[in-house]
Amino acid sequence: MNILVTGGAGFIGSHTVVALSTAGFNPVILDDFSNSEIRTLKGLEKIMGYIPRYYAENCCDAQVVRRILKEEQISGVIHFAAFKSVGESMQEPLKYYDNNLNSLIVLTRSMMECEISNLIFSSSATVYGQAAALPATEDAPIPVAMSVYGNTKQIGEEILRDIALAEKSLKSTSLRYFNPIGAHPSAYIGELPLGVPNNLVPYITQTAAGLRPALTVFGDDYPTPDGTCLRDFIHVMDLAEAHVVALQYLMNYPSNTFYDVFNIGTGKANSVLEIIRTFENISGKPLQYRFGDRRSGDVTSLYADVSKIEKHLGWTAQRTMREALEDAWRWQQSLATGG
Ligand code: UFG
Repeated sequence: MNILVTGGAGFIGSHTVVALSTAGFNPVILDDFSNSEIRTLKGLEKIMGYIPRYYAENCCDAQVVRRILKEEQISGVIHFAAFKSVGESMQEPLKYYDNNLNSLIVLTRSMMECEISNLIFSSSATVYGQAAALPATEDAPIPVAMSVYGNTKQIGEEILRDIALAEKSLKSTSLRYFNPIGAHPSAYIGELPLGVPNNLVPYITQTAAGLRPALTVFGDDYPTPDGTCLRDFIHVMDLAEAHVVALQYLMNYPSNTFYDVFNIGTGKANSVLEIIRTFENISGKPLQYRFGDRRSGDVTSLYADVSKIEKHLGWTAQRTMREALEDAWRWQQSLATGG
């Protein structure tokens, strides 16, 4: 079965392409390469044995999307393509609303026109803000978004919920990702941040590789055991496999209309300092870091209640935080030697 993966050359998208292929699906990539690199396709070829079919186009273009859905006889869509920089979203709100919401509207409308039913939407744990109760459950209240980026995820979820409330023929699910890290264990694909990384683990690996000066740990005075923030770090391959399980669930669901939302995390909380210590242990050398001010918009602590996805989809994360850091480090080192 052919599955369209928008943003399939990106970090989570490319790993999901591998997981789909392993599960016997035939992934088709739609990616405009605005925040991804064509060399990811070569990495996919090394892992999968072939370059997946791909379209270097934008998924806000309805004509393009309809053509691909028909020509490729698509059975389901996993929608990753979106802008994702929290900081940039505050500077360029319309860029984010335009791209992240229009792509979803174009996709859902085109899918319904083409009578294609199964859609998985990339949402984010950022919709919880600082959840009042931890671990965060899917029915926790959703506060006003802390960023434009986060708001595009909240609105995206609402769009899909409202389509289901109107009993349209579309089965969809939103997956709320916690903190994806790591890389494929082959080190043929991984995260390729543009410029200075915003996220912790790529900054750590680039610092250890000598590409960045010291890491700044944003805040050491949080009300946590060691004063640094707590997050739920999940291996990107676990996250990728969750998409395959969710897709199979949608395909087997015995109705034309469905919507639900699931957390994708490990259920475990690790502090920023725990990540640094584990990474130092893996790399065998001290990491250069210093403590700085808190970063605006960061929540103190966020980790997932994973019982809903375990109960309904039978999925749980299989890999450890340490394995994820080992794979991220192997990937970073492979970049230094030309991939
Ligand atoms: N951190 C540092 N130094 C850095 C980068 C991060 O100390 O250079 C800390 C952050 O302060 C935070 C933790 O590491 O405490 C994790 O930060 P990340 O940026 O890696 O991840 P976030 O939890 O901030 O990001 C998550 C998702 C994003 C989402 C964001 C919303 O990965 O997609 O929440 O705030 F947008």
